[in-house]
Amino acid sequence: MESKMKLKVKRLIDKMAAPAEDPIPLLTPYKMGKFNLSHRVVLAPLTRQRSYGNVPQPHAVLYYSQRASNGGLLIAEATGVSDTAQGYPRTPGIWTKHQVQAWKPVVDAVHAKGGIFFCQIWHVGRVSNSGYQPNGQAPISSTDKLVSQGNTNEGVEFTPPRPLRTDEIPHVVNDFRFAARNAIEAGFDGVEIHGAGGYLLEQFMKDKVNDRTDEYGGSLENRCRFALEVVEAVVDEIGAGRVGIRLSPFGEYYECQDSNPEQLGLYMVKALHKYGLLFCHMVEPRMETGGENFECTESLLPMRKAFNGTFITAGGYERDNGNDAIAENRADLVAYGRLFLANPDLPKRFALHAPLNNYNIETFCIPDPVLGYTDYPFLE
Ligand SMILES: Cc1cc2nc3c(=O)[nH]c(=O)nc-3n(C[C@H](O)[C@H](O)[C@H](O)COP(=O)(O)O)c2cc1C
Repeated sequence: MESKMKLKVKRLIDKMAAPAEDPIPLLTPYKMGKFNLSHRVVLAPLTRQRSYGNVPQPHAVLYYSQRASNGGLLIAEATGVSDTAQGYPRTPGIWTKHQVQAWKPVVDAVHAKGGIFFCQIWHVGRVSNSGYQPNGQAPISSTDKLVSQGNTNEGVEFTPPRPLRTDEIPHVVNDFRFAARNAIEAGFDGVEIHGAGGYLLEQFMKDKVNDRTDEYGGSLENRCRFALEVVEAVVDEIGAGRVGIRLSPFGEYYECQDSNPEQLGLYMVKALHKYGLLFCHMVEPRMETGGENFECTESLLPMRKAFNGTFITAGGYERDNGNDAIAENRADLVAYGRLFLANPDLPKRFALHAPLNNYNIETFCIPDPVLGYTDYPFLE
């Protein structure tokens, strides 16, 4: 009996004395401003369309807490800044007190697990239908050009947009400001301004869409003015240490293209310096659609090098190329969308090199509060 015990103790001592295996690059700690991250596997913002009446629901408490880990960064799904910001059914908002109250238990649940939680604040612009707009009005944009192909989803057609008058722009900037304030009131650690995906901010930034003749159109500086005014307002409201932005200069979502995406990306990151933004989250050029990945020769490296804050990359990452991105210093953090959606314990699976659950596209954006949402299994 005694020798059995001795053997156990010896094994324990040997184990403790053995050199610990180095964690993979994705699982090394990182300090992002005042936030101490224990690993670099970020939950990318993912619209799930389960927020009935634009209000976060109790099932989101479970969904986000499942994906939270101690010291892990989560970015919440795109969240509308006003009643004109929606283009899809059942997406959450953060412009009313009721919505702020509804976010609180979701945020609390993430914090209870030690997670760091940012809210992605969003306006769809022309990616909408008048049925989602107050009084059935036309969606607002930089332009009156209609998205010519596809639909917002669930077969709803796009409605021709109305270009914002110059004097209306400060009101939209203010909507972002109030949304940021509300996010902090709801308990979020900060916000990510949605400047990607073909939505309102990009509709101003990109020259294939923006056809304005006022100070918000024409030159690169003019086209970026609106996005940077939003950045300035949000930073002024909640402090630069709580603000990031997501950009996809290379993307062509909803026909939102630019003739010189690298120049656009570089201009933006350099301008962001001025505000001391916490992070810049960029979508890789290869990510073209929600379903498939395409490789291409363009790279985010020039932007990574030009930005002095935390650089997050996203789009088509798996375990190995995510590790490479960190090891080669191409990014500080890697955001995972579809893999994290289907694997609530993704960082742990990466640590153990465990097999991953497959995602099911059919259930990405359905209203069901459980199916394809909170029922993806954890590792045993
Ligand atoms: C179902 C779904 C919803 C998404 N919703 C958002 C969103 O709300 N905001 C956003 O910026 N990107 C959104 N994206 C893009 C993802 O954040 C991510 O950039 C994309 O899925 C590529 O990363 P991945 O290859 O790791 O999935 C969404 C993607 C999917 C598949």
